[in-house]
Amino acid sequence: MEPILQTIELRKTYSPGTPQAMEALRGINLSFERGRYYAIVGKSGCGKSTLLHLLGALDVPTSGKVLCEGEDVFSRSRRELAIFRRRQIGFVFQSYNLLQEHTALENILMPLHLDGREADEDYLNRILKLLEIGNLLNKYPAQLSGGEQQRVAIARAMAAKPAIVLADEPTGNLDPKTSQQTLSLLKDTVAQMGQTLILVTHDMDVAAQAQEQIRIHQGEIVEITRRD
Ligand SMILES: Nc1ncnc2c1ncn2[C@@H]1O[C@H](COP(=O)(O)OP(=O)(O)O)[C@@H](O)[C@H]1O
Ligand SMILES: [Mg+2]
Repeated sequence: MEPILQTIELRKTYSPGTPQAMEALRGINLSFERGRYYAIVGKSGCGKSTLLHLLGALDVPTSGKVLCEGEDVFSRSRRELAIFRRRQIGFVFQSYNLLQEHTALENILMPLHLDGREADEDYLNRILKLLEIGNLLNKYPAQLSGGEQQRVAIARAMAAKPAIVLADEPTGNLDPKTSQQTLSLLKDTVAQMGQTLILVTHDMDVAAQAQEQIRIHQGEIVEITRRD
């Protein structure tokens, strides 16, 4: 089957041609299959977030390609790229990034509304139930705990039924127990919805639960471990 996402010789250099030039990614070749769970691991500064941002088209590569279902993502116009991001990708950030002046429900529906779409009620209700946040919908972020805010952020990432969920150390700000619960919910939700999950983590126990572990060192893939 064709991979849902693929990278070909993907490179990212920050501040190229200056004394501060930083080669964050040095030729990454990866293939992600539909419906699988991937963990990206490696030391701080090795390029994990940079890779995730390129996979989600939040930033552009210096050279190389990202293919989604065989199509070159960065050959699209800016408008098409924005649509790709909104419809195919759900992004979960470590810092939640919820809009403070909006309720949980408004935050969750924001990406859909920006896209001029209404929620699929059945799907949304399943997500809210899986994430156990049905009773928090009218609260504002400041009224929620860290774990609750992150579950709302996960629901927001999933609201548009993206094929791919990208999560960058999504539980880095949570205590171990809440972190474990939130990750289980995320994992179960994407599994039930048949989505591809690509999760950046520095927690080896978390990474061990993934079907595939990808280890990065100084901008290069150094190891891929498959569990099945
Ligand atoms: N916007 C940026 N400008 C310049 N350098 C950056 C930028 N973002 C990241 N870097 C550098 O690129 C390298 C990889 O960073 P990052 O992808 O954030 O690593 P990780 O997520 O694995 O900690 C690091 O050396 C970091 O300092
Ligand atoms: Mg990072």
